[in-house]
Amino acid sequence: MMKLGIVGWRGMVGQVLMERMIESSDFNHFESIFFSTSQKGENNPIKVPNSNPILQDAFDLNELKKMDIILTCQGGDYTKKVHSELRASGFIGYWVDAASTLRMEQNAIIALDPINKNNIQAAIKNNQKDFIGGNCTVSLMMLALGGLFKNDSIEWVTTMTYQAASGAGARHMNELLRQMKFVTDRVMADSEDQSSQILQVEKKVKNLLSDPHFPIDNFGYPLAFNLLPWIDSELDNGQSREEWKGGAEVNKILQTKSIIPIDGTCVRVSAMRCHSQALTIKLKKDIPMDEIESMIKEQNDWVKFVPNTKEESLKTLTPQFASGSLQIPIGRMRKMNLGPTYLNAFTVGDQLLWGAAEPLRRMLHLLLEQ
Ligand code: HSE
Repeated sequence: MMKLGIVGWRGMVGQVLMERMIESSDFNHFESIFFSTSQKGENNPIKVPNSNPILQDAFDLNELKKMDIILTCQGGDYTKKVHSELRASGFIGYWVDAASTLRMEQNAIIALDPINKNNIQAAIKNNQKDFIGGNCTVSLMMLALGGLFKNDSIEWVTTMTYQAASGAGARHMNELLRQMKFVTDRVMADSEDQSSQILQVEKKVKNLLSDPHFPIDNFGYPLAFNLLPWIDSELDNGQSREEWKGGAEVNKILQTKSIIPIDGTCVRVSAMRCHSQALTIKLKKDIPMDEIESMIKEQNDWVKFVPNTKEESLKTLTPQFASGSLQIPIGRMRKMNLGPTYLNAFTVGDQLLWGAAEPLRRMLHLLLEQ
């Protein structure tokens, strides 16, 4: 049995990953060793087959080195601290990581097997050892548009994102709730129906968002009753790092010979765990809508084509629908008034499942198969 070392199983992505691995009986295939950055020597609370009862030290290179695969959701700082030292100390196993740190390294493969299984398999044969989960918006968009990428139908894409609080982390999700409560506790105290004085209430809401006690320790700004049109750091060209990742990662995943330009504006909204994206797709040629629909539906088992009607869109093309689900709805598909090669679309997906955990657990199976 392959020895699988697991780090970062307690965090949000780690928890979702453990849940999916238990549901899918993945632990039956490995000898699993749970590591901890802060609780070595304590009891392992995750009760799965073939696993260690006592947590190992996640900084102990000698113990890590014994693993065939290290699966980490511990975050970028851990990867920075441990990965290169571990490799330098002679670790020749696979490193499967949710963090972005190594994603663009030449030797690393971004794992999204419904899209790039051949590239992953070729990389394994080629003795490549670092397999990294993609950025969540990228993975979700690629699963939604897999059929069009596969048929080489896309000239360029703009993606305008509506990203959930979960992309920033668990504390941010909690802060969003606290922000909502801070406001509603104060404006709804007297009556549930304030419609007759709604303009005064709106002024009160606006003032509450800049109240010195309004909770902004994590986001730095109000997200509730607001949106935040910047995600991640600033780059010199005016893009945010999140926006840059779109183009860089898609082209790396596809190993494109000529770059497919992808760009847009990434925005944080007050959804909990599903990222949505409004897409303008420039097709290489005029393709009939029914062909586009078939291409999209056939490419993978998770994409869900939503007919472009008001009812279906409001029912199934929402964060509410996609939350906790592996389905990737895509809809609002129509040719735009800009011309027959301009396609409008909207897609949504759970950023913790296909956006983070699912490609990693599937990566383990590809390693097993080899
Ligand atoms: N960077 C993403 C976000 C999440 O901030 O929403 C992780 O891919």
